[in-house]
Amino acid sequence: MTKYVITGGKPLYGTIDISGAKNAAVAIIPAALLVDGVCRIENIPQISDVTLILNILQDLGAEVRTVNRTTVDIDCSHIRNQPVPYQLARKIRASYYLIGALLSRFGSAQVPPPGGCDLGGRPIDQHIKGFTAMGADVDVRGGYIHATARDGRLKGSQVYLDIVSVGATMNIMLAATLADGLTIIENAAKEPHIVDLANFLNSMGADIMGAGTDVIKIRGVDRLAGGTYSIIPDQIEAGTYMAAVAAAGGQVRIHNIIPKHLECITAKLQEMGVSVVEDGDDLVVSRRGALNRANVKTMPYPGFPTDMQPQIAAVLCLAQGTSVLTEGVWDNRYRYVDEFRRLGAQIQVDGKVAVIEGVSQLTGAPVRACDLRAGAALVIAGLAAHGVTEIDSIYHIERGYEDIVRKLTGVGADIKVVITPDQEEAQPNVG
Ligand code: EPZ
Repeated sequence: MTKYVITGGKPLYGTIDISGAKNAAVAIIPAALLVDGVCRIENIPQISDVTLILNILQDLGAEVRTVNRTTVDIDCSHIRNQPVPYQLARKIRASYYLIGALLSRFGSAQVPPPGGCDLGGRPIDQHIKGFTAMGADVDVRGGYIHATARDGRLKGSQVYLDIVSVGATMNIMLAATLADGLTIIENAAKEPHIVDLANFLNSMGADIMGAGTDVIKIRGVDRLAGGTYSIIPDQIEAGTYMAAVAAAGGQVRIHNIIPKHLECITAKLQEMGVSVVEDGDDLVVSRRGALNRANVKTMPYPGFPTDMQPQIAAVLCLAQGTSVLTEGVWDNRYRYVDEFRRLGAQIQVDGKVAVIEGVSQLTGAPVRACDLRAGAALVIAGLAAHGVTEIDSIYHIERGYEDIVRKLTGVGADIKVVITPDQEEAQPNVG
């Protein structure tokens, strides 16, 4: 059993470097399947989700060469169109991008339904709606999603998404890149990683316009050639460390970020009495006085990100007064609340709304990470709590946070990885 053991109550001082964005990397790596040649991808975060998706590509015949800690060369010139390995694909949500990528390149794909953090229902009907509009037949047989372009190659089409979906927007973009003709995605998601995927594909020769707005136009091309691309910094990793400073106090420079991507998080922390000062590619975050209560509702970008909801909850637990937190994206993203209560938090949940009564102090306790962001939120709560917090099931956290222990130790946190001789816990499907 591997745990994080945190002795909390110490303010944080120093600088934290932000890694490449997880949710951009797990789309851009499958996008390399569309490229006939070598893609050099820089600023790749070293996290287990990235390792998994690279392993899947290798299984399909990609040559993957590590250039340095954050750079890989991927050559998909000799890729095979074969069923994606079941056990690997089921471990990660982003395996759904292999449907769009393989369908685009070969006209057919066989991919297991994706895994993913348990956040309530996670359908992919909007992805399938897009593929179907482009001339694919899609069905599930023998535990696999089978998608086949009726004419051998997808045809450009107009797709109106019924729900703003990050995954469907990126998957349809992948499918349309090598399709015949123009595809228009309406009611598209606008997250920074959508723009990053479009920039990656365009740098390899694709013709995509409008990413970052709600109408994206993709004119299909015959082939993509190789090139070099650097992934954007991780908005959510940066926001997580900003929340850690808000909760634990101190002053930390969050280095190598795009301030624009963090505007809604910055605004909310400022409303709570946290100082956030922009300095080029950095934000300097400090908190000395009391935290003010606030209401937070999560929404698609540019709204407050759902992937920061548990982390902001950790901060609100320590604010003066009553805060109302509303989850606007997922059906069930409050599974962490019982673990917070072990630390002394006062939270009541009714459906998608959590009412948080701020307490003057949390106290350390043994807790369990139930998913990636919930795990990060427990780290934040543990850093602020008095006494010792032990967090288990930390594999969830390591899916999405590169070197979290080293980064926090570097700003003065007392956090250690402790391996106890118990049998290593089984890792269920995550993503
Ligand atoms: C991506 O998931 C992220 N995952 C999630 O991050 C993130 O929470 C989410 O976007 C929203 O920002 C990856 O990028 C790998 P959606 P995705 O499709 O694409 C509904 C993290 O912590 N929906 O935008 O799967 C869906 O149920 C993870 O890093 C449909 O109904 O999310 C949800 O309510 C967790 N039908 C809403 O749309 C569909 O076909 C948004 O989901 C697709 C989605």
